[in-house]
Parts: sequence; C-alpha cells; structure tokens
Amino acid sequence: MKVIAVVSAKGGVGKTTLAANLASVLATSGRRVIALDLDPQNALRLHFGVPLDSIDGLSRATLSGDALRSVMFDGVDGVTVLPYGAVLEDDRRRFEAHLDHDPRWLANTLDSLGLDASDIVIIDTPPGSSVYTRTALCAAGFALNVVLADAASYAAIPQMERMIETYAAPRADFAGEGYVINQVDQSRQLAKDVLKVLRHLLGDKLFPGVIHQDEGVSESLACDTTLIHYDSLSQAAADFRACGQWLMARLDASAVSPRSVA
Ligand SMILES: Nc1ncnc2c1ncn2[C@@H]1O[C@H](COP(=O)(O)OP(=O)(O)OP(=O)(O)O)[C@@H](O)[C@H]1O
Ligand SMILES: [Mg+2]
Repeated sequence: MKVIAVVSAKGGVGKTTLAANLASVLATSGRRVIALDLDPQNALRLHFGVPLDSIDGLSRATLSGDALRSVMFDGVDGVTVLPYGAVLEDDRRRFEAHLDHDPRWLANTLDSLGLDASDIVIIDTPPGSSVYTRTALCAAGFALNVVLADAASYAAIPQMERMIETYAAPRADFAGEGYVINQVDQSRQLAKDVLKVLRHLLGDKLFPGVIHQDEGVSESLACDTTLIHYDSLSQAAADFRACGQWLMARLDASAVSPRSVA
C-alpha cells in the first residue's frame, strides 16, 4: 500500500482537484485506488458522483464504531471513495479530539484494511496546520505539496516543510515529498517568473511539468466528475496524467531504495 497525502500551506490551491484527478488517472491505469477525504469540507466525493445528500463517511463511522469499509463508495473511473461525511459541530469536535489523542489512528486503520502492496491511498487534507494534516502526514509514505505560481504560495512553503519534518520525515517508511504547481497561466509574465524561482528552489522535488489553468476543471466538478472522465483530451487532463506517471516513478524509486527520493 502506498499512501500519498496531498497537502498545502495555503487554501484554494487545488488539493482536492489534484487528489481526485490523480486518483482517477491511477485507477484508469489499472491500480486499485482509494480516495480518502480527511477534510471536513467533505468535497472530494463530489468529483466521484457520490450523491450530494449522502452524509456517510469516515468521521461518522469512526464516532459510531463502524468499520471504514462500510462507508466506501464506488466512484467514477473505478476509484473507491471514502468521504469525510457530514457531521454536526459537536461531532466534528469529538472526531478531531479523537485524532488529536491518537495521531496514528489513520495509519493503523489503513494497515488494518489489508490492502495489497500496489494499492494506492490518496488523502485530501484541509489547508495549513491542523489535526487532519498531522494525521495524514503520520500515515503518509509520500507528501505531495500543491502550490500556485504566486508569491503567497512561495512564502508559505516553509510552513508545510516544518509539518513534514515533524510528522512524516522521522519515520523510516516515509519516502519523501514532491511539489506540483497548479493553475498555471503561461500568458502571465509573473507566473513565468515565479515558476523559474520555484524550479530553482525545489529542484528535483518538483514535478517537471505544471497543471495548466483550465476551465474544464470547474466544469467537470459541476458535472460531479473528474476532468479525466469529463474531458480526457484537455490540456489539464494531459497534465494530470503526466503528473500521475511522475508520482508513480517517484514512489517506485523509493520502493527500490527507501529515502533516496527525499
Ligand atoms: N488547474 C485548474 N484550472 C482551473 N481551475 C482550477 C484548477 N485547479 C483547481 N481549480 C479550481 O480552483 C478552486 C479551488 O480548487 P480546490 O477546491 O481543489 O482547492 P483546495 O486546495 O482543495 O481548496 P481548500 O484549501 O479549500 O481545500 C476550485 O474552484 C477548482 O475548480
Ligand atoms: Mg480541498
């Protein structure tokens, strides 16, 4: 089982979009993929056709002592979706207290699912520092940072680096981290300039391509699906596929030689 946490210091950069489309890319290439939502926004499921009025998910299941398998949905493209679920404020706080008390809860729960070595779990997280991101990083074999080609994302990079250093890097089974630049508009000079700076700063941690800004991304969400499913010939769909290949190459390299890709 390979566990990938999709994280960012800043909000609204495209974590959920990337998590959903990477899950879709990897599932269509024949892998078993679980897309797991560890964000109370409960939005990851919307890319996979899970009904809007469905309230089931891992938060509710955990609080009521039910197995996570009981709240797994069959999503588009063959992805298994594990939503966060809809909870009232009191229950959300109880679930967060549970995670705070047991940072290894997710890691242990995933272990107990008995997944195959080649199976992939992609975890979506809320922005910034939270009990959810800590929980995801404590379970992750790889952390995928999503950034925009702008000054605010650049300035926030050290914040997520510190979380990864604290919660993931000390573990022997943590293979490393990578960066993906999303929503790139190549016609903007500032974006080109920031891209250059980010490439210099992040070196080979950075996905060599970018995910272009593409209006098909929001159109696909409006149709309850992924861009891979909605418009597989679009520029961003090609970007997501290239990113999925790069990610798998990174993970396979780390399986041969742990830590060599960190
Ligand atoms: N490559 C892209 N091209 C165009 N729009 C995009 C792209 N990526 C994401 N978006 C849009 O940007 C918005 C934010 O994306 P998303 O919800 O995935 O970000 P997020 O990082 O998960 O946000 P949050 O921090 O709130 O969880 C959405 O409206 C989404 O459709
Ligand atoms: Mg999100």
